[in-house]
Amino acid sequence: MLIFSRQADLQSHLSHASAGLSIGFVPTMGALHAGHLSLIRTSLRENDLTVVSIFVNPTQFNNPDDLAKYPRTLEADVAKIESISGDVIVFAPTVEDMYPNQTQSESFDFDGLEHQMEGTLRPGHFDGVGSIVKRLFAIVKPDRAYFGEKDFQQLQIIRKLVSKYDIPVEIVGCPIHREENGLAMSSRNERLSSEQRDHASFIYKVLTQAKERFANENPEQVIDFVKETFNANPVFFLEYFEIADAETLVSITHIQPDRKYRAFIAVFAGDVRLIDTLELN
Ligand code: PAJ
Repeated sequence: MLIFSRQADLQSHLSHASAGLSIGFVPTMGALHAGHLSLIRTSLRENDLTVVSIFVNPTQFNNPDDLAKYPRTLEADVAKIESISGDVIVFAPTVEDMYPNQTQSESFDFDGLEHQMEGTLRPGHFDGVGSIVKRLFAIVKPDRAYFGEKDFQQLQIIRKLVSKYDIPVEIVGCPIHREENGLAMSSRNERLSSEQRDHASFIYKVLTQAKERFANENPEQVIDFVKETFNANPVFFLEYFEIADAETLVSITHIQPDRKYRAFIAVFAGDVRLIDTLELN
């Protein structure tokens, strides 16, 4: 398997190796799990070449402690990729390579998508994501890029980035991969205690109950149900639960016909922050 740690080397390889071939790209921050691997498998099926980037992007962390504690497991990540295919090209650059001058984000206008949910709670987060993904797209020049619906707001923001900057890449949204008990897979799950992990099916259970209720109750009633259920649970602290339009991500109080809605949730288990989302209609 080819592993590049400098963008110049990756670009020079791709300029020869990719002539006439389609490139699929899966950007990640490493600590790979089955959710990431499902994106990589989809890319391998749909493209001639697949590039996976592994880069813990400092500019998207609003919390320095979260950045410091983010798992860095390159060797294990490479082994996991190798176990599904030896043909993947891995790009694992250094911070200096990706941010040669200043480790700083560009500022973006994502037409308001950045002012909802994760955007308000993690100031600067989506500027960081936009900056790194735009740079990675310029280096890899993929035909298709794969993003998980787990980070649904990020997925919509990347679609907006590509349309605003006319970047010629197809953005493919991929379904959420879950543990057997329903917990959405996340690199942060590694930091849960065994008790928290055992209880974590609770989050998905409440989401599916909210979906059932959404068929008969108004959004405010569903939101109250979720808040009360979390108030009665000693293991998890609910940061937000929102029912929002799946396209604009604006939270709603009234349902309109012909619109798609999703539930979005952020929860703390101790100091570990988990997010999840579910399509409601
Ligand atoms: P990371 O959290 O490593 O996630 C990489 C990709 O895997 C994202 O598109 C994410 O939505 C997807 N993913 C994570 N968990 C998933 C799951 N359980 N099921 C399906 N897909 C899942 O998201 C980032 O990194 C970064 O913000 C990045 C886009 C790489 C920019 O730095």
